[in-house]
Amino acid sequence: MQEYGSFSAQERAALLEQLREEYAVFQGLGLKLDMSRGKPGADQLDLSAALLDAALLDPPKTETGFDCRNYGLLDGIPEAKRLFAALLDLPAEQILVCGNSSLNLMYDYLAQCMLFGADGEPWAAQKKIKFLCPTPGYDRHFSILEHLGIEMIAVPMRENGPDMAFVEQLVRDESVKGLICVPKYSNPEGKTYSDETVCRLAALHPAAKDFRVIWDNAYLVHDLYDATDPLLNIFTAARDCGTEDHFIEVTSFSKISFPSAGISAIAASPANLAAIQARMAIQTIGHDKLNQLRHFRFFRDARGIYDHMQKHAAILRPKFETVLAALEQDLGGAGIASWTNPRGGYFISLDILGGCAKRTGQLCKEAGVVLTPPGATYPYGRDPEDKNLRIAPTFPPVAELEQACALLTLCVRIAALEKLGEQESPAGKREQR
Ligand SMILES: Cc1ncc(COP(=O)(O)O)c(C=O)c1O
Repeated sequence: MQEYGSFSAQERAALLEQLREEYAVFQGLGLKLDMSRGKPGADQLDLSAALLDAALLDPPKTETGFDCRNYGLLDGIPEAKRLFAALLDLPAEQILVCGNSSLNLMYDYLAQCMLFGADGEPWAAQKKIKFLCPTPGYDRHFSILEHLGIEMIAVPMRENGPDMAFVEQLVRDESVKGLICVPKYSNPEGKTYSDETVCRLAALHPAAKDFRVIWDNAYLVHDLYDATDPLLNIFTAARDCGTEDHFIEVTSFSKISFPSAGISAIAASPANLAAIQARMAIQTIGHDKLNQLRHFRFFRDARGIYDHMQKHAAILRPKFETVLAALEQDLGGAGIASWTNPRGGYFISLDILGGCAKRTGQLCKEAGVVLTPPGATYPYGRDPEDKNLRIAPTFPPVAELEQACALLTLCVRIAALEKLGEQESPAGKREQR
């Protein structure tokens, strides 16, 4: 494809007119497609249908004879703790098994740090506190921090994780209390932190002594292909540096079994876990242990989970490949877009010409395709270059994805041509639209 930057003004105008005609056809189709949220499709949910068999709970007792219908076992049933211990490669004693949502665990942990402190004075009682946010990142992380009044500092993502030199410099500021991240198959780029990045995070000695990294390992077994992106165990790396207390790890079965009825876990150093558990004991007498038991009996062990994830991958691979093929075919070589090619996770990150993301989102919406709101992948919803779009290919069937991608790439091209026209002649802005 010819580079868009090399077009003459006439060529650009002619192409824009042609693309707008194509766009008008899409508008006439009355599409209603959604590529905005990373949800499993119904066929993925069906993979875990047997989790709902009543026979799985017969008898409703743990291997130690505990009746899961009753109160108790705040830290989770031993079988579910073992399951998470195998996945996270941690001792079961360092894990609490909780309800369905890890987002809830993150909110709760941070809210409790605000109220009661992480290790000392409550964060809310300290003057302005800040968190580091690798960007682009997960919008709901940013919503939690904003909601709690924690100032966010964007840290650019590089190929192997956040820009560590910048992180190392920023943590010299005592008001920087932590960092929130997705170390494996990051949302939205699908990047996995290298060993060096993990070791440098583990080796941080921040000015704040109550510094915490929220290690959101949401996509730890969510490979699309046979080979996994290896991720160093953060607690092993931290133990060598004496910084285990800096790390709070969470994960969940939302994209292994059911988003609305999975199980989650929080893992931490013995000292942190004791504090978390003591607070949790005030909040609840125990989580849904029947669901924990069901999950254990359905999956049995890590092998059972890995095998199950291959079935998810078989459904998801064609969807990711559909998006990637459309991007390559429609945008490759045009010099107006670049995108990630993840080996796992739930998203593809698309960077387009600066100043075009919002316009592209608007064009898509007006023709019936909903994208994650442009800007959402940045703290406060502000993408400084207005260029990043998060594509969530998992939910729509392949045929719908093909249509949605055809429209998306069309809108990217239209927005780019409009922008290039504006840059050349700012006065032309009104005519173009
Ligand atoms: C990185 C990340 N963390 C957490 C979540 C939500 O997890 P849960 O369903 O366990 O609350 C998501 C959902 O998309 C996610 O992408």
